[in-house]
Amino acid sequence: MYKGKARAYTNIALIKYWGKQDETFILPMNNSLSLTLDAFYTETTVAFSPDFTQDRFTLDGVVQTDAATKKVADFLDLVRKKADCPWYATVESQNFVPTAAGLASSASGLAALAGACSEALDLNLSEQALSRLARRGSGSACRSIYGGFAEWHQGTDETSFATQVPSNGWEEELSMIFILINAQAKEVSSREGMRRTVETSSFYPGWLSATATDLVKMKQAIAEKDFTALGETTEANALKMHGTTLAAEPPFTYWSSESLRAMECVRMLRKKGLACYFTMDAGPNVKVLCQKQEEQTILRELSAHFASEQLVTAHAGKGLAFLPVEESSPIN
Ligand code: ADP
Ligand code: DP6
Repeated sequence: MYKGKARAYTNIALIKYWGKQDETFILPMNNSLSLTLDAFYTETTVAFSPDFTQDRFTLDGVVQTDAATKKVADFLDLVRKKADCPWYATVESQNFVPTAAGLASSASGLAALAGACSEALDLNLSEQALSRLARRGSGSACRSIYGGFAEWHQGTDETSFATQVPSNGWEEELSMIFILINAQAKEVSSREGMRRTVETSSFYPGWLSATATDLVKMKQAIAEKDFTALGETTEANALKMHGTTLAAEPPFTYWSSESLRAMECVRMLRKKGLACYFTMDAGPNVKVLCQKQEEQTILRELSAHFASEQLVTAHAGKGLAFLPVEESSPIN
C-alpha cells in the first residue's frame, strides 16, 4: 500500500479567475492573482492498494456520493497515469472550511489531494508540477501550492500553473476578515457559473479586457506595497466579475441582501477613514481586506453590524505541506 498526506490552505483571489478556455485541461481565460490564507484549510490522506476494488472518498468522515467520488476518481486517474500505478485508492479528507460555500474549499481540497497523491506515489513533483496537477482538479487549487501571493498564468497544459508573486513579505502586514453570511452549499457552483457566463454573458468581453489592466495595477501595488491601490483594485475586480453574472442567460447572482449590507458597511467604514475593501467569490460571503494595524478597529466596527460568530479573521497562509500519515488513520 502507498500512502500520503498533505495540508493545503485556501486562497482568495484578488484578481479573479472567471472562465475557462478549455474545460478538460482547466485552462483559464485570464491570469488571476490570490492571497493564501491561514484560517481555512484541508487535510487529505490517500492510500493506493492492490486490495481495493474501487475508489472511495470520504469528506469530514462521511462517505461521498457517486457523483462527488467520480470527480475525485477522475483526478486519481490522472495521477495513476502519471505514476503508472493501476491501483484503486481511498481518499479521506477533512475540510476545515465550509464546503462549496464560496470560501474556496475546492482550492484547498484539490491542492491537498494533489499533494497527498504525489507523496503517496513518490512522484517527487516540483512546486510548478504540483500546481499544474492541482489545476486539473480545480483551477483555483493551483494557487494554493504557494503561501502568500500567487499568480496563475494562462497558457497550455504545459505552461499554465501558478507562481509565487515576490512581495518582500508584505502579506504578513495584511488581514482578511470573513463576514460569513451563509456557509451552506451554493446553488450555482463556480464551475457552472463561469461556464454559463462565458457562453452567454454579453459583459464577458468587457470583463476580460478590464482584468488584464487590473492585473498590471495589482502587481504594481504589491511591488510598491501600496495598500490603497491593492484594495481599490481588489474591490473593483470583484465587482466586475459579479457584474458578468447579471448579463448571463439565465441571469444569476451570488449576492444576497446580507452581502449587499456587508458591502455597504465596508464603504461606510472607508468614509470613516478606515482602509478596508471587500471581495466576493461564488457565494454570498464577503471578505474584507485590511491592514493588520487596523484589523482590531475594523473588527470592532463590524461587530456592531454582524454577530461575532460571523466574523473570522485570517492572515497570510503557508503553501502546501506534506504531513506524516498517522498510525491511527483508519486507512492504515
Ligand atoms: P467552493 O467555493 O467551496 O470552492 P466550489 O463549488 O467551487 O465551492 O467547489 C466545491 C467542490 O470542490 C465540491 O463540490 C467538491 O467537488 C470539491 N471539494 C471540496 N472540498 C474537497 C476536498 N476536501 N477534497 C476533494 N474535493 C473537494
Ligand atoms: C470565483 O477554481 O472553484 O473563486 O476550476 O471549475 O474548479 P473550477 O473552479 P474554481 O473557481 C474559483 C472561482 C472564484 C475566483 C477565483 O478563485 O479565482
